[in-house]
Amino acid sequence: MADVLADKAISYQLNKTQSCYRLMRLDDVKSVFDIDQDIYPFPWSEGIFEDCIKTGHLCIVNEVDSEIIAYGIVGMIVDESHILNLSVSRAYQGKGYGRELLMYLLELVKRGNATRALLEVRQSNQVALNLYTSLEFEKIGLRKAYYPAENGREDAIVLAKPIT
Ligand SMILES: CC(C)(COP(=O)(O)OP(=O)(O)OC[C@H]1O[C@@H](n2cnc3c(N)ncnc32)[C@H](O)[C@@H]1OP(=O)(O)O)[C@@H](O)C(=O)NCCC(=O)NCCS
Repeated sequence: MADVLADKAISYQLNKTQSCYRLMRLDDVKSVFDIDQDIYPFPWSEGIFEDCIKTGHLCIVNEVDSEIIAYGIVGMIVDESHILNLSVSRAYQGKGYGRELLMYLLELVKRGNATRALLEVRQSNQVALNLYTSLEFEKIGLRKAYYPAENGREDAIVLAKPIT
């Protein structure tokens, strides 16, 4: 999928922010991993990010002044897009970059003929839930004990949005 969308993904400029979207490369993984470690209590490993790129998932970074400040990863199964990771570095959170990245990913999967976007979110992640529901994602299920947590496991809320 990354190949199909490569031309459209590279150097996509938006006026509202200084965003510059492009495909994630293997040599970005260290920077992405550093952000992931900083913002998640249970971050992904560098190997998971590398596998996502090698598998052909849609892996996008947003650079501001040549610094990666946000990234998103989407897997496609037939016409369903599964948003696997959506992250903004700590210093850039709350400034509109998460919403912009999610809208950008939704536009890309629409061009890739997806008919539905799906994601999981921790029950306790109110910031992310606010973002997703504001973009008309709706709860379609619950995955019990899906995530590791400080005190055992935490449920995931499964959200979906039709792509029209
Ligand atoms: C969740 C995340 C991607 C949102 O991105 P962001 O750039 O911080 O959010 P934005 O500034 O684009 O805000 C988008 C919406 O999120 C919600 N939001 C943002 N900050 C919030 C806060 N402090 N409290 C409550 N809601 C908040 C609001 O609904 C906001 O919309 P609004 O500005 O119209 O009110 C980002 O905070 C992040 O990376 N968090 C850590 C990793 C994570 O939880 N990822 C999601 C995993 S499912």
